[in-house]
Amino acid sequence: MSAMIPIAKPIVDREEIEAVERVLESGMLAEGKVSRELEEKFAKFVGTKYATVTTNGTTALFTALEAIGVQPGDEVITTPFTFIASANTIAQVGAIPVFADVDPETYNIDPEKIESAITKKTRAIMPVHIFGNPCDMTRIMEIAEKHDLYVIEDACQAHGATIDGRHVGSIGHVAAFSFYATKNMMTGEGGMITTDDEEIVEAARSIKNHGRGAKGGYSHFRIGYNFRMMDLVSAIGLVQLKRLPEIVKRQREHAARFDEAFSDLKELRPQRVIEGAESAYHVYAPRLYSDTISRDEMIEFLKAHGVGARSVYATPCHKQGTYLNIHQWRWAKFVRYPDYSKMSFPVAEEIGRRHFQVPSHAQVTDDQVEIIIETVRQALSK
Ligand SMILES: Cc1ncc(COP(=O)(O)O)c(C=O)c1O
Repeated sequence: MSAMIPIAKPIVDREEIEAVERVLESGMLAEGKVSRELEEKFAKFVGTKYATVTTNGTTALFTALEAIGVQPGDEVITTPFTFIASANTIAQVGAIPVFADVDPETYNIDPEKIESAITKKTRAIMPVHIFGNPCDMTRIMEIAEKHDLYVIEDACQAHGATIDGRHVGSIGHVAAFSFYATKNMMTGEGGMITTDDEEIVEAARSIKNHGRGAKGGYSHFRIGYNFRMMDLVSAIGLVQLKRLPEIVKRQREHAARFDEAFSDLKELRPQRVIEGAESAYHVYAPRLYSDTISRDEMIEFLKAHGVGARSVYATPCHKQGTYLNIHQWRWAKFVRYPDYSKMSFPVAEEIGRRHFQVPSHAQVTDDQVEIIIETVRQALSK
């Protein structure tokens, strides 16, 4: 049997290697000139005035939350159908993650559910463009404006996704991107904050650099952290940023082919993209509605036939041990958390049970796309 078609496969070529070599040879490895260049080019790509690098997407979200002044005990509304880091960064700053259920077709936070989750303690909304699929940002920004809330876009999976031609990451007050090894644009580990707000970016730059001021040196003005990204890493980012449009284009082509090839199968329902938006298709994961094969059997069948497959967020955040055991978290001494064990977000839970991911990254060939389609069809006709 031929080798497994992997779920993810980053592109690392001569250009990345030479870019790293140049930084190594320069002797200047820590955050500096190369990171400044990446920030400038990334901000231009996304369409914001400012960008600042961080060590990863998690520290980008954390820093953004601190930079907008989220305080212990504040509530931040987010989706339960996301990577745990979205919710965890809210808890890390001492705030309370308040989950609002998702739309059954887009898998993204449902704006109407956001509205009903708002209380006097709500400080911000963190929509997550899950699997690269843009949230309904028009509606979310309207709600935020009406209730005077900040919006932090978790764009960690969505580099290159757009809404009416505007890139995600340029619509909320601030946004976070991840450059983790499997992302549309990757540096192994890495992250970026984007914003149009000078005060937010200044605060973020200070927070991620031990509370220093713009001049650096050994004057410190607030408690900060070391979330700086190495130039060694940013050098890979510069090469990957050039590749990003082509990577996203390929992922879109694969997704379009899957959508078309599966359109006659009543057992499969793809993730819907809202009107005017273009997903970056970081992940292609339809839901399975079959009487003959379970979701887990589908995944096993695909893997047995050489197609990488998995469920991603089978367990939504509120069902994770992290939130079932939130009383153990240090902030629980000072902050009253809700009892997450009593919560139910039926749509997120249902998507969790039904979705399965197939390989759709840019290194999947057209022939492999056809093999994936054929294997899914075979599984359904068993
Ligand atoms: C939606 C989402 N938020 C946050 C993160 C955290 O990013 P990182 O892994 O770079 O810390 C990720 C990355 O996996 C993610 O997918």
